[in-house]
Amino acid sequence: MTTEAAFDNPLAEGLDTVRRAPPGVLVVFGASGDLTHRKLLPALERLSRRRLLPAAFAVIGIARTEMSDDAFRDVMVEAVPGAGPGWAEIVKNSSYITGDYAHPGTFSALAQRLGQVDEALGTGGTRTYYLATVPDVFAEVARMLGQVKLNRPAHPGATVRLVIEKPFGHDRATARQLDAALHEVFDEEQIYRIDHYLGKETVQNVLALRFANAIFEPLWTRNYIDHVQVTVAESLGVEKRGSFYEKAGALRDIVQNHVMQVLSLTLMEPASSIDSERIRDEKVKALRSVVVPQVPEVANIAVRAQYDSGWVEGVSVPGYRQEDGVDPHSQTETYVALKLAVDNWRWAGVPIYVRTGKRLQKRLTEVALQFKEVPHLAFPKAAAEGLHPNALVLRIQPDEGVTLRFGAKVPGQAFRVRDVLMDFSYGTAFLEDPPDAYERLLLDAMVGDPTLFIRTDEVDTAWQIVEPVIEAWSAGAAPLAGYAAGSWGPRQADTLIQRDGRQWRTP
Ligand code: BG6
Repeated sequence: MTTEAAFDNPLAEGLDTVRRAPPGVLVVFGASGDLTHRKLLPALERLSRRRLLPAAFAVIGIARTEMSDDAFRDVMVEAVPGAGPGWAEIVKNSSYITGDYAHPGTFSALAQRLGQVDEALGTGGTRTYYLATVPDVFAEVARMLGQVKLNRPAHPGATVRLVIEKPFGHDRATARQLDAALHEVFDEEQIYRIDHYLGKETVQNVLALRFANAIFEPLWTRNYIDHVQVTVAESLGVEKRGSFYEKAGALRDIVQNHVMQVLSLTLMEPASSIDSERIRDEKVKALRSVVVPQVPEVANIAVRAQYDSGWVEGVSVPGYRQEDGVDPHSQTETYVALKLAVDNWRWAGVPIYVRTGKRLQKRLTEVALQFKEVPHLAFPKAAAEGLHPNALVLRIQPDEGVTLRFGAKVPGQAFRVRDVLMDFSYGTAFLEDPPDAYERLLLDAMVGDPTLFIRTDEVDTAWQIVEPVIEAWSAGAAPLAGYAAGSWGPRQADTLIQRDGRQWRTP
C-alpha cells in the first residue's frame, strides 16, 4: 500500500501509525442524506477517535435540503452518540452549503468556502469530494466542479480526489457514459469508486489467507477444487428503498458489484506486490477470465425470483410486491442464482455457483471452496456415510472467520468416519474490533491508497459479465420464480445446481 501520507503518531497503535490522513477538507455531496448520517459521520468520528485525522481538518456538507451551518453541526453531533473528545473540534470546523447541483452559484459558494477554510485551518488546498447523492447527479456534480476549477489542486503538493458511491451505471453503456463524463474532469488516479465489501476485513482476509500461507494456495486450483459457491444472503427485505430497488434488482444491486469483487479476490493469481495497481491488475485479469454467458444459454445458467410473504426470524413479513414504493405487479428480482465458468489454467472446468437474495432465512455471506472427492475410498461405504468432500469456507459475515471441513474417525471400536470442522473465528482470535468498512475506505481515500477501490476496467468487465443476463431477462427469457420469505430461495435454484450433481450448502 502507498504510504504517501506517513505521519508519525505515537498515540495510535500498530500499522495505523503510518496511515494518518493529511490536512484537508472532506466535501460531502448529499450531506443531508441517509448514507452521510448512518455511515460517513460515524466512520469519521471513529477515525478521529483513533487519532487518524489531523487537526487541520473540516467537513463541508452540501445538499439541496435547506440547513444552516449550526443545524448541520447538530446533525454531526446527533449522528454519533457518545462521540470522543476530538469530534467537537471537527464539528466546530465544519459547515454546510444549501444548493442545487445544477446551479453554478452552489459551486462558486463552495470554492469561496474552501478558500476560507484553507486560510483559517491551514488545510492547504487538499480536498476529498464524496458523492453520497443519488446516482443521477454524479456526472453533473463532477462537471460543475470542473467548471469552477475545483477538480485540480490549486497548490503544489495538494491533492484532489473524488469518491463515488455505487451504483456505477445502470448497465455497461451507462457506466461507460458516466466514466467518460468523470474523465472529462478528473484523471482516473483521482477517482475512487466505492464497493463497501472491499472495506470489510474478512474480504481483505481472502488475500491474507491465500497469499500469506503456504498450505492453501497449492490446493487452490482445478486439480483439487470441485466447485466454488458464493452466497450473499440477507434476511432483510428492501426496507425503505422500494422505489430505488425496483429499478435495480438483485443482479445489479449485489451481483455486478459485491459478488464480482469477492469473486475476483477468490479467483485472482498472486500479485507480485501489494501495490494497488498490481492487485487491481490481477483482479481485472481474473474477471476477464470469467466466461461471458451467451444470451440464449442464460435460461440454463441463471434463476431469478422474488420473495412472497413469509416468516423471517419469527416475524411475519409481507411479500416484495406489498412493500412501500414497489409496483404491485413488479417483475424485479430479489433473488439471483447463477452458474459461471472461468477460462484459464487455474480454474478451467470448475463451476462457480453464485446466489444472493433478500428475505432469506438468515444473513450470511460466504465463499466456499469444495474440494474433489478422494480418488478411492478404502473403507466400506457404510463407514463413510457421514463424510462429505473437504470444504474451505471463508465466512465473510456475520460470524467472521474460516472453517475447514474434513473427515475424522468417530471414537469407538467400529471404524466410522464423519465430518468435523476446524474453525478460526475473528471474534476469539483477535481482541480488537475491526474497523468498519466505511472507516477503512474513507481513510484510504484521504491517504490516497486506491487498492480497495474499483478501477474503471474492473467496473466495465463486471458489467460485461452480467449484461447478457440482463439482456435475456429483459427480453422475457426467464420467468420470475417465487420463494417464501424466510426460505433459502426458489426450488428452481436447487434444480440449477442439482442438475450438475451438486447441492447448495445448508448454512
Ligand atoms: C448494498 C445494497 O450495496 O449492500 C443493499 O444496495 C444491501 O441492498 C447491502 O442490503 C448489503 O450490505 P451488507 O454490508 O449489509 O452486507
